[in-house]
Amino acid sequence: MQLLDETPTPARQVAEVLTNMGASRQRIGVAQWQQATGDVMPRRLGHSLLFTPQPQQMTDFYTTVLGLRVSDRIHDLVTFLNAGPGDHHIFGFIASSHPGFHHASFEVPSIDAIALGADRMRSRGRDAGWGLGRHTIGSNFFHYNPDPWGSWIEWFSDIDQIDDSWVARDWDVPPHLWGAPPPVTFLRNLEPPG
Ligand SMILES: [Fe+2]
Repeated sequence: MQLLDETPTPARQVAEVLTNMGASRQRIGVAQWQQATGDVMPRRLGHSLLFTPQPQQMTDFYTTVLGLRVSDRIHDLVTFLNAGPGDHHIFGFIASSHPGFHHASFEVPSIDAIALGADRMRSRGRDAGWGLGRHTIGSNFFHYNPDPWGSWIEWFSDIDQIDDSWVARDWDVPPHLWGAPPPVTFLRNLEPPG
């Protein structure tokens, strides 16, 4: 773990996304299909998750020494951590037999951007990965693609925002609210070479 005393890099500026969902009627006289493909690139790294054989010790270190807070847990499997008001989680751990890197997650401007990115990866011959879906814990829309090193890249949008009044809870839920279940390789933690 390397700690740097630096000013956080601001997220890339993106336009407001206007919706006509629920009671909202924000987008009048604009054809969304002509807008949706305009900006699909990541705006920031949102979070990453590690495999660990010691989730409780890792949680103790990152909360008591580095000041992160537990956001929520999926019972005996995943611990999500936050850094105060903002994204529901910016870091976390998945219980496993040995250490490893599970995924890095990049925020894109919209659910369209997630699906368009997935289409682009498929069209270039990449593994289809997992998605589109909406997560349970954190509620973000997601699509995952395998990266070249046996881990995953996640593209996300619409993650829950929390404040200091958020209360962490222990949940017994699948990782997705809707969408296809994850592939069997999703929680695979490859042994390090040698
Ligand atoms: Fe994620």
